[in-house]
Amino acid sequence: LRGRSLSVTSLSGLPLWDVQGLPIEDLLFFEVAWEVTNKVGGIYTVIQTKAKTTADEWGENYYLIGPYFEHNMKTQVEECEPPNPAIKKAVDAMNLHGCQVHFGRWLIEGSPYVVLFDIGYSAWNLDRWKGDLWEACHIGIPYHDREANDMLIFGSLTAWFLKEVTDHVDGKHVIVQFHEWQAGTGLILSRARRLPIATIFTTHATLLGRYLCAANTDFYNHLDKFDIDKEAGERQIYHRYCMERASVHCAHVFTTVSEITAIEAEHMLKRKPDVITPNGLNIKKFSAVHEFQNLHVLYKSRIQDFVRGHFYGHLDFDLEKTLFLFIAGRYEFSNKGADIFLEALSRLNFLLRVHKSDVTVVVFFIMPAKTNNFNVETLKGQAVRKQLWDTANSVKEKFGKKLYDALLRGEIPDLNKILDRDDVTIMKRAIFSTQRQSLPPVTTHNMIDDSTDPILSTIRRIGLFNSRTDRVKVILHPEFLSSTSPLLPMDYEEFVRGCHLGVFPSYYEPWGYTPAECTVMGIPSVTTNLSGFGCFMQEHVTDPAAYGIYIVDRRFCSPDESCNQLTQFLYGFCKQSRRQRIIQRNRTERLSDLLDWKYLGRAVKAFPQVQKWYRTKGFKFPRPSSVPPSPTSSQHSSPQNSDIEDEDERYDEDEEAEKDRINIKSPFSLGQVPHEKKKQHGEHKN
Ligand code: UDP
Ligand code: G6P
Ligand code: GLC
Repeated sequence: LRGRSLSVTSLSGLPLWDVQGLPIEDLLFFEVAWEVTNKVGGIYTVIQTKAKTTADEWGENYYLIGPYFEHNMKTQVEECEPPNPAIKKAVDAMNLHGCQVHFGRWLIEGSPYVVLFDIGYSAWNLDRWKGDLWEACHIGIPYHDREANDMLIFGSLTAWFLKEVTDHVDGKHVIVQFHEWQAGTGLILSRARRLPIATIFTTHATLLGRYLCAANTDFYNHLDKFDIDKEAGERQIYHRYCMERASVHCAHVFTTVSEITAIEAEHMLKRKPDVITPNGLNIKKFSAVHEFQNLHVLYKSRIQDFVRGHFYGHLDFDLEKTLFLFIAGRYEFSNKGADIFLEALSRLNFLLRVHKSDVTVVVFFIMPAKTNNFNVETLKGQAVRKQLWDTANSVKEKFGKKLYDALLRGEIPDLNKILDRDDVTIMKRAIFSTQRQSLPPVTTHNMIDDSTDPILSTIRRIGLFNSRTDRVKVILHPEFLSSTSPLLPMDYEEFVRGCHLGVFPSYYEPWGYTPAECTVMGIPSVTTNLSGFGCFMQEHVTDPAAYGIYIVDRRFCSPDESCNQLTQFLYGFCKQSRRQRIIQRNRTERLSDLLDWKYLGRAVKAFPQVQKWYRTKGFKFPRPSSVPPSPTSSQHSSPQNSDIEDEDERYDEDEEAEKDRINIKSPFSLGQVPHEKKKQHGEHKN
């Protein structure tokens, strides 16, 4: 923001000041979000990944504000005293008046300061604060909407805190960015109380957009036709929608994360965003170029182990010819495209069977739902695998010892006698334990809403039950992944690295971090032209599929056509040789720079010049130097689909990468960017 002219006008009686040219020391920057230290979905990723770039720039003048949860505090935050006197006074004053405000450093890269409010502790103020909100903007919150009530408490505490800070800042100017409607009441109340702060409201979705899309409306073709007040009322979210809309209109600057959400916001919230800030990631390059490929092998073997257990007794497929696909994110069945994904999997299963393919596809659905813990059959699978492993090891030990003794005696042992009857019995018993009466389960947990769950209901309808003849196997894991899980002990990043393809055919996706994360880890993914990420890639990469970014058309096609296109992408992917997959992963990973906060953060700061430049100059990644291994359109021109699965090709690919690097100019290397041009250019080259 330093680089642009952000003038706070006299709106609501605010003093007029202009941040342009002000040194950082004279500014304080706060970011407010319900997902600060609190993982729910993508907003957590925005804040957590951006923290390093922001903290590097703002140093001690950058603070995050979020809700306090004991577990999050214990595991992620180191409590400390606020170094800034104004903030210390604000925290102390609030604690003195019956609040519980925690302060510390969030233990993530950049270690930003966080101010966390205990919502439950201040709940006794709720009625009074409802009155304040009503007085400020005539929005009433029904008592039964627990979430909206919590947001009011959060917002009231935020506004109170900002009042205390601005009372003591000693001439410093305060800028506050509020994320999403959950943080919005803080903005509304701050403005109603005429606090001398510059406000930014960033929306990562609109409430109505999410609801209307989930209801299977033809959303994008009817954007201008909805009676939005009525729609909000009918869905019983009128008060939330008012909170959101008021926040948008109270903000000095309104931003969102993609063009598509900007259009949506214009219709659903009646304000055109002033700035679009595409979401980035904190990219770390490995010093060894192929490290990410090695990690793929490492983590794939962990997934293979899980699959060995899960499919015990049914392991009649070759794990070396098994591809791991996954979809992950919040459980919004049709918004996230799980509906068309399942349909496409059913078609893929058919195609693989009729073409007698030797490839097996194991698909994971990582979408949190209500459960009663893991199911017995799934846990048993891992226990059986462990037992087989232990048996094999103990027999191997005995075998090894006998062999060693024989060699010491100068003999070659009689291999028919080296195993005695007991060894054979142990092995037979182990094999018997792998017999099962049921098919390998399609879910790892006991689902609370088993009979109505949309994924399970669809699996039942299309009959993908993990039977021996199915070439596509499905596993619903209705919980986010964790390295401490007794079942699949991997964190999400490790799991993604071990998979072959992420599939995110979303209908409603303002940005969509999941395919972006795949890209920076060098894992190809499927996205859509209705997701912010998909559109961003379409705009900045000439042939996204060649780089392993498959964009399903969900905008101009019927659902059935989109599903067919997705099936073709998946089938084409299954036909690739290992060598083609390796090449493709190399290419995917090369797009990482496009998604680095280092550059996207700057693009935001230097707005509007950079944004204009991006558009008018139309920066694009060119096609890769050699023809793409795209499984569909360019199949004929793919690298030779050879049976020889060697990896020498990787090194040819490096040459190709080098050529590309020379061809590809970063948007920051071509000039016209007004601020810190030289530094940016240098950094990109690094
Ligand atoms: N995610 C995670 N653990 C998992 C699965 C997903 O932490 O097991 C994260 C993932 O890294 C991503 C976020 O959940 O950053 C989902 O964000 P996205 O923008 O794709 O969708 P949202 O849920 O916000 O709609
Ligand atoms: C990486 C490794 C190779 C391995 C390959 C497996 O490229 O460096 O050693 O053969 O991954 O790829 P796949 O797509 O079959 O999992
Ligand atoms: C929202 C959107 C998601 C986006 C995230 C971060 O949760 O649903 O698409 O990636 O915010 O902006």
